Amino acid sequence: MQEQLLTCFVHPPVASNTFFVSLEGIEGAGKSTQVKGLVEYWSDPKHGNYRVITLREPGGTDFGEALRRAILNQQTPLTPLAEAYLFASARAQLLVEKILPALLMPNTIVLLDRYIDSSLSYQGEGSGLGIDNILKIHSIYPLYFIPHITFYLQITPELSFERQLLRQQKSTTIPTTGSGTSDYFERQSVTFYRKLAQGMTKSVELFPERIRVIPGNLSVDEVFAAMIEQWELFIGGGGRRL
Ligand code: TYD
Repeated sequence: MQEQLLTCFVHPPVASNTFFVSLEGIEGAGKSTQVKGLVEYWSDPKHGNYRVITLREPGGTDFGEALRRAILNQQTPLTPLAEAYLFASARAQLLVEKILPALLMPNTIVLLDRYIDSSLSYQGEGSGLGIDNILKIHSIYPLYFIPHITFYLQITPELSFERQLLRQQKSTTIPTTGSGTSDYFERQSVTFYRKLAQGMTKSVELFPERIRVIPGNLSVDEVFAAMIEQWELFIGGGGRRL
């Protein structure tokens, strides 16, 4: 069943020397910091002089940003199916409006801050809808397009929880799981983060070629170096494998 579902997934059409890349990680994995470094690296003439387009999920389109606000400001729990379809709708719109057209430009890297592995992990495992149901939702155009390479910044659920408490302490005096300044997913318990980490591990098992696991507990520079090492291997190996 799962094997058959996996056959739906393909890389999107791309212009010459153009790549679709995503960055994944549970809360507090350090994605935002690394996005900046990657953009600088790839834009450098020494490292490909790529046109780099970064997009975040959910968001990136007017519709996606509206959904983002709706989901993250949600106060009562959403049913897992509603959650999954909300993220999927934002993603479908982003693909058609932004990602697919950008990939038709030569020498371009489209970098997504979160993509399908977030749905597999958060809705599939965290919220309990099941990995197969997420795969099914993504078996329809344009959701079956997957990145050429994904960097998964892996941290333990405990470190994720710790980093979030720190973040909340900096922005509010209430470092609890109460309303504070935290969003819908940041209000969850450490048990939820454990499920997220398990979900990401399942994603890696499903897409072992595409997803490169990067230890996220290292320093910013070390994490960056590990990503670049994987990128060089990917490019050296001809790139673009499922
Ligand atoms: P954001 O503030 O961008 O989180 P982060 O900086 O950690 O990326 O909020 C996005 C939230 O949405 C994040 O908690 C993960 C969640 N999410 C899902 O649950 N499913 C999805 O498919 C995506 C793309 C995000």
